[in-house]
Amino acid sequence: MTKKAAVLGYPISHSLSPKLHGYWIKQYGLDASYEAIEVKPENVKETFNRLKDEGYVGWNVTVPHKEEALKLVDEADDIAKAIGAVNMVMVKEGKLIGYNTDAFGFLQNVMISTNKPFNQGAPFAGEKALVIGAGGAARAVISAIKSAGINQIYITNRTQEKAEKLIENFRDKDAFKIIPWEEKDAALEGVDFLINTTSLGMQNQPPLAINLDKLPKTAIVNDIVYKPLETELLKAARKRGNIVVDGIGMLIWQAVPAFNAWFAKEPEVTQTLKDYMVKLSQA
Ligand code: ATR
Repeated sequence: MTKKAAVLGYPISHSLSPKLHGYWIKQYGLDASYEAIEVKPENVKETFNRLKDEGYVGWNVTVPHKEEALKLVDEADDIAKAIGAVNMVMVKEGKLIGYNTDAFGFLQNVMISTNKPFNQGAPFAGEKALVIGAGGAARAVISAIKSAGINQIYITNRTQEKAEKLIENFRDKDAFKIIPWEEKDAALEGVDFLINTTSLGMQNQPPLAINLDKLPKTAIVNDIVYKPLETELLKAARKRGNIVVDGIGMLIWQAVPAFNAWFAKEPEVTQTLKDYMVKLSQA
């Protein structure tokens, strides 16, 4: 029987996930499908029930349903609970189990792109990060960098109260420091890892206005925006010699555990696949 999976969002036409999973399904010759389903916020619950009844093995959840998905699943893993959002659901013995693979995707992308050693528990132990943004993506990134050993996290957000609220969810509040939006340039001093989690710099969005002069040249700079692939932030960072990590890898890597869980096959992330996804994402 065909194993069915999907991605649910609103809107959904922009999602690259069907192409990504479709690539692997074809590569491994699986009897499986992965479709995009547009679901309005008021219909998320009934869609979850319908897909379960129709025998789907699971599905991804994307903007704006990730927080609601956490409420709708029967059980959620600790990472999803910590992030407060579910991006992947698996149907197990009639129950909906919620996961969040965004943090994994983020970290895997950074570690591979920067040759950070794997399986060492805390590849970023003792380092200091500056996270720009305080939305859903920021929560996943913060969960990831904490798990990688970063214990000094600066957060700056246009709406400061949102950053303050975000910190409340974490037990070790001492690890965090809020930087006023206007003071982020100065706060770059001594930062090892700078991450933009906002939509600033994305095509058709305003640029992220930041002056990198104070950032150490050894710092890693990552933008989770992937359209354009090289944002103005990454361009400026590359020019001054920083290690830069683009955002397309996070999208690819968050899909790996999902594909593996639903279809019992750990998919490979190859350069050919990355090139294919880059081409699709820039179209
Ligand atoms: P996501 O799930 O992608 O993180 P989100 O939860 O809507 O989306 O968060 C969007 C982030 O981008 C927020 O940090 C937002 O800042 P505010 O909390 O002040 O809204 C940030 N953002 C979006 N547009 C922005 C802009 N024009 N200037 C500054 N920050 C912006």
